[in-house]
Amino acid sequence: VSLTRALTEFSGGRGYLAACTTGLPTLSARAAMIEDLDASVSGHPDPAGYAAAVERSRAHFARLVNTTPGRVAIGSQTSVSVSLVAAALPEGSEVLVPLDDFSSVVLPFVHAGRGLCVRSVPLARLADEVGPDTALVAFSVVQSATGEVADIAAITRAARARGARTMCDATQAAGWLPLEASDFDVLICHTYKWLCCPRGICFTVVSPEFAPAIPSLCAGWYAGEDPWESCYGVDVTLAGDARRFDVSPAWQAFVGAEPALAMFAALDIAEVHMHDTGLAHRFREGMGLCDGSGPCGTGLGGRRAGVDVTCSAAPALPSAIVTWDDPDGCDLARLTAAGITASGRAGRARVAFHLFNDDEDVALALHALDRRG
Ligand SMILES: Cc1ncc(COP(=O)(O)O)c(C=O)c1O
Repeated sequence: VSLTRALTEFSGGRGYLAACTTGLPTLSARAAMIEDLDASVSGHPDPAGYAAAVERSRAHFARLVNTTPGRVAIGSQTSVSVSLVAAALPEGSEVLVPLDDFSSVVLPFVHAGRGLCVRSVPLARLADEVGPDTALVAFSVVQSATGEVADIAAITRAARARGARTMCDATQAAGWLPLEASDFDVLICHTYKWLCCPRGICFTVVSPEFAPAIPSLCAGWYAGEDPWESCYGVDVTLAGDARRFDVSPAWQAFVGAEPALAMFAALDIAEVHMHDTGLAHRFREGMGLCDGSGPCGTGLGGRRAGVDVTCSAAPALPSAIVTWDDPDGCDLARLTAAGITASGRAGRARVAFHLFNDDEDVALALHALDRRG
């Protein structure tokens, strides 16, 4: 699928700069969901059809991150998947995480009740901070609050050298940043943002090396080898592959997810990356946001957790999300008043550029903020 063809799947992207909050549904997803709803209303819900949509969705996601469907589990929330990973770690293990990463990524370790030691360091220091006692490095590939992109190669190299496992959350990355599931022991991705799915579908990809350590803590009927034969009693045989980590699917959500995931799996994500980060770059230029070459005063820079950090508005790696200091929310209010959908997180204004946006959206946002445009 070409980017141009994919664009015809969206009709409401003008002024919508919030894929980092929630994506826009594709027109094919809308049609499929309405058709499904109509069938149910008329007395013909289709559980077998839902199960087929789940398996096709699993396969599309596998293709998107270059793995096999047998390594992909389905779930509904990030934190539930993360809690499985927490349960796989020895009691008292150290988990290294970025400072202020998204709570669903880090809280399951804090509250695992197994004495895990969660150590937070600035994202830029994550690779350097992997120590001999680190059992797991857990991080979002792209930070929700700042849009910063993790240096995957450096982090996974450092973890491998120290014998630590890696878990990434790709929720803010998959759909615009090319990803290889085999780079990580675990990759978790909620699909309602950049993959434009209905909310309620979170995939977990587990490596064959780490999978045996993970307990099927949330097993229900869908974790069985044959879900429909696994509905009763304690003697259920769990699936031999990653499906043993499945929880039962949010059926209607998968009806809409399937066409969206098919589209993203068939897209050249490198092309989407160029499109999205190109728009973000032109917005940054128009805003006069710093280029990262020196210290600056845009909010998150300075000394945090005893370590010097540079301004996070300056991406070391190109990002589709641009954030800047907006402590009183004035810039977000200006964008909103101009009819632009943006967001504010942790005292920062946040805009996101995705495939349904173009240069006119950049110009509209800059104009609303009284910058060039
Ligand atoms: C990095 C990241 N992970 C996950 C999520 C979603 O978490 P959950 O599935 O718990 O709703 C978000 C939502 O903003 C996010 O930014």
